[in-house]
Amino acid sequence: MEATAAVIELESVKKRFGAVQALDGVTFTVERGDVFGYLGANGAGKTTTIRILLDLLRADSGRVSVLGNPTDRVETRRKIGFMLDADGLYDQLTAVENLQFYAKLYGCSPSAGEITALLASVRLSERANDRAGTYSKGMRRRLALARALVHDPEVLILDEPISGIDPTGQIEIRAIIQDLVHERGKTILLSSHDLDEIERLCNRIALIDQGEIRVTGDLKQLLGAGGEGRVTIATSTPVAPAILAEIRGRFGVEAGGGGSTTLDLKLPVGVRNADVVSFLTSRGVGVEGVATKHTSLEELYAAILKEREA
Ligand SMILES: Nc1ncnc2c1ncn2[C@@H]1O[C@H](COP(=O)(O)OP(=O)(O)OP(=O)(O)O)[C@@H](O)[C@H]1O
Ligand SMILES: [Mg+2]
Repeated sequence: MEATAAVIELESVKKRFGAVQALDGVTFTVERGDVFGYLGANGAGKTTTIRILLDLLRADSGRVSVLGNPTDRVETRRKIGFMLDADGLYDQLTAVENLQFYAKLYGCSPSAGEITALLASVRLSERANDRAGTYSKGMRRRLALARALVHDPEVLILDEPISGIDPTGQIEIRAIIQDLVHERGKTILLSSHDLDEIERLCNRIALIDQGEIRVTGDLKQLLGAGGEGRVTIATSTPVAPAILAEIRGRFGVEAGGGGSTTLDLKLPVGVRNADVVSFLTSRGVGVEGVATKHTSLEELYAAILKEREA
């Protein structure tokens, strides 16, 4: 039988700190080749989940596995690379020495050429022999990422890999992450509270809120399922209020922009852009352009949290 695609599995994981139920039955699965976004606000439970996955913290209950094995096994941990808020770098050691040190901890001995290549992959070749203590924050993040990769793990678990980095640095780290997944076949779980970052990088997500997973799945599908499509139609002549009213009645759409040449529509599921366009032309209104706006992750996020409040 073919091996399951599940690389990281959590099932009903709970963790309490005193009065705080940090995780209240967390269940989700990361599959091979995913860049999986673990999304949540400050205090939602992201780091707690990650610490449990890395066996740095024990869950009160529930089940956790990585590559089909419990995470407290050395063989499992060897296949995981991680990056936490504390980057674990030694200021007094150079980049090369930091990597050699961590390689040894993992029981592997990469050649000088391999270390050079690794540092090149995070764009640190020029500073390879400088001490980590002299690095900027963005450079430290990249070195920490190299550190996470030094034993060539199959799975990477990154806690807020891009937070606190300037836009150029963000682009670099995003490119490195994409490359790791698409060129080198890694599976990545990364946490973030940044919707934009998750939307750019990830193919699947889980959204955690107050220790509970509110939604998980394929990002494109989730955004597609965010409900109504938004459409902007540009017309050659202003749309008369009577026609606008007719559009509302006929298609059950929310329509704004009457009297101007721009129609903003919110189409319910089942109504196609083409239906509205052909109606407009049948009323003698020329259509000059149709632009569809997809639901953004931000809208999805807001909708989900609103549902919780209701
Ligand atoms: N060691 C601890 N002792 C007590 N409470 C803790 C501990 N670790 C986490 N918590 C609590 O558990 C909850 C979840 O914290 P966690 O660090 O997992 O959130 P997070 O999603 O990573 O947030 P952030 O985006 O701020 O990093 C918070 O209420 C936090 O105060
Ligand atoms: Mg955190």
